[in-house]
Amino acid sequence: MPADRPDLRGKPYVVAMPYEDVYRRSLADPEGFWGEQARLVEWTVQPAAVLDRTDARFPQFPRWFAGGELNTCHNAVDRHVRDGRGGQAAIIHDSPLTGSVTTLTYADLLDQVARFAGVLRDLGVGRGDRDLVYMPMIPETVVAMLACARLGAVHCVVFGGFAAPELATRIDDAEPRVVVAASCGIEPTRLVAYGPVLADALSRATHRPDHLVMRQRSQLPSGSVTAADVDWDAAMATAEPADCAAVGAGDPLYVLYTSGTTGRPKGVVRDNGGHAVALTWSMRNVYGVEPGEVWWAASDVGWVVGHSYIVYAPLLLGATTLLYEGKPVGTPDAGAFWRVVAEHGVTGLFTAPTAIRAIKRDDPDGELLARHDTSSLRTLFLAGERLDPDTYHWATARLGLPVVDNWWQTETGWPICANPQGLSGLGGLGGLGGHSADLPIKPGSPSVPMPGYDVCILDDAGGELGPDAEGSIALRLPLPPGTLSTLWHGDDRYVEDYLSAFDGFYSSGDGGYRDADGYVYVMGRTDDVINVAGHRLSTGAIEAVLAAHPAVAECAVIGVADALKGQVARGLVVLKTGVTTPPEQIARELVALVREQIGPVAAFSKVDVVAGLPKTRSGKILRKAMRGLADGRDEPVPPTIEDPAVFETLRALFPNPNPNPNPRD
Ligand code: COA
Ligand code: AMP
Repeated sequence: MPADRPDLRGKPYVVAMPYEDVYRRSLADPEGFWGEQARLVEWTVQPAAVLDRTDARFPQFPRWFAGGELNTCHNAVDRHVRDGRGGQAAIIHDSPLTGSVTTLTYADLLDQVARFAGVLRDLGVGRGDRDLVYMPMIPETVVAMLACARLGAVHCVVFGGFAAPELATRIDDAEPRVVVAASCGIEPTRLVAYGPVLADALSRATHRPDHLVMRQRSQLPSGSVTAADVDWDAAMATAEPADCAAVGAGDPLYVLYTSGTTGRPKGVVRDNGGHAVALTWSMRNVYGVEPGEVWWAASDVGWVVGHSYIVYAPLLLGATTLLYEGKPVGTPDAGAFWRVVAEHGVTGLFTAPTAIRAIKRDDPDGELLARHDTSSLRTLFLAGERLDPDTYHWATARLGLPVVDNWWQTETGWPICANPQGLSGLGGLGGLGGHSADLPIKPGSPSVPMPGYDVCILDDAGGELGPDAEGSIALRLPLPPGTLSTLWHGDDRYVEDYLSAFDGFYSSGDGGYRDADGYVYVMGRTDDVINVAGHRLSTGAIEAVLAAHPAVAECAVIGVADALKGQVARGLVVLKTGVTTPPEQIARELVALVREQIGPVAAFSKVDVVAGLPKTRSGKILRKAMRGLADGRDEPVPPTIEDPAVFETLRALFPNPNPNPNPRD
């Protein structure tokens, strides 16, 4: 590592400044602002330019920290050991599902990561190769991700709740050299055997990985999946550690698949340089965490929240990250989160509003909460779906802490909008107020744009709307560091899906407005992506499964408001003429098919057989109007509809008002 690295040990990384100054500067002088933040990271070769504007495809494809070289694993692990954090906990794995708590110090983590990188290297993995990781919430998953980063390889983590066909699609798109898996995941009511899912996925996929490394778990060991299986423990026992390989700032660190509007998932590509800088910056300035503190993102490593805030950001900062293998309720009860906070001295907790709604449902008066000493906790951060004001007020009143909504997406990798706890005067630096008087929290809003995000509300023609007017939320290009660099194998698809709707802007896919104080309100997706318990799903993917059933003539899937999960997917199907199978049986078959093809995470349980779908005279399904009905709005009959009676029949299917209405509804 370079001799000229700045010595930041024990020093605050950024001098706390008022939010407005930081934000304004980030837009007026992005090179100056991000150039300073680049010092948070150790480079083997310093960037030649903070933002290379000479590329012909600027600003669609900005090249942050061009010419710079670094290794993300070095920044997340090695340098902390070198700088004296070897004995500090890097990962605390708290697993009520196995009844165990395991701590890995930074020195332990370095040892394991270097050895597993050696295992991968010996299996032929090198810079730029992809490795697919299909693992639950265990420390080995983090080890596998960091080992890829160490070699300059690219990890693709797939969430354990997806079924074999979804896994197969990702194997074919990413073309991994090695698959790293565990033998099982553990859900409260069942063990999820990964071996058969992997075998099924590999039999469906065209691409053949060279090897499969299997971490056997005692709860449910797996038989061999391929002839070339490698046993994790055996390989680790004899592995020679591998060193960090320097990679270019723009080289991919990972590909993470997310749902679009079609059935084909999109592989969001994250670079090494911009990611390391932006995430390190966000950890202290947005989340108000200091090196050495215990931080907990209660999500799953299979999602972007897990990538950014379970794995990379806390480790890049030198904090301790809590890896929780359990649920907010039922493992064993709704006091589980508070038990973990108390036991490990958690200072910041990040989860999805759904989790808090589940806790609120089971412990409305906070009796279980009162049994635990949660005084270490400074802030509760919520993201992944809209934070409804009820949940916000309940959490604020029960915890007596700032409850900070933050809005972002897999594509951006870190918050677009938040109430930055490390920036403004009274917050972050220890004040329990948590946010400054000039930047109060407004229920229903994830507050204000973060540095580098020039958030605009646009009308359909791309015109900028003023305060309180609702439109598409778009981000003026270039996007800041840490956001997606492109889609895997998909520059054109990236431009088409995100950059073509509004010239010079990235379309977030969310609609909303800004108030006169500049606070952003996110009202929901403007496309067919839905959000079920904080999990992003494509209605198009579910429709493709329903449409493949031989009895189905046509179908639509919409997200229906749900008091616990925010939204749930609901299918409406029209049967082919002459089908005699009872509708209830067809509905059961369709539910089972979605579970088999997409996975339990779709939580798909409700299908209605209907006489017709609302369509325009030219045959286009009126999805927006259906979404309105499903959201419990008093949706007028669309003027373009072919048969108004069909619409009235559907209205009768959605009699209940939305349990989580938007503030302006
Ligand atoms: N592997 C395999 N299956 C999984 C899984 C995984 N990693 N995660 C969830 N599933 C399964 C569940 O077992 C369940 O299966 P079932 O139909 O057999 O019961 C199904 O997928 C739906 O799971 P879930 O959405 O978790 O619903 P739930 O009813 O079991 O639990 C909550 C409800 C609110 C407790 C739960 O959704 C939750 O913890 N939400 C927090 C969301 C979150 O952290 N999101 C990340 C974004 S920040
Ligand atoms: P994902 O890519 O899975 O993180 O999902 C991103 C989508 O979730 C966004 O486009 C929003 O629709 C929604 N979302 C995430 N966070 C919030 C939030 N704080 N408020 C409202 N919607 C959110």
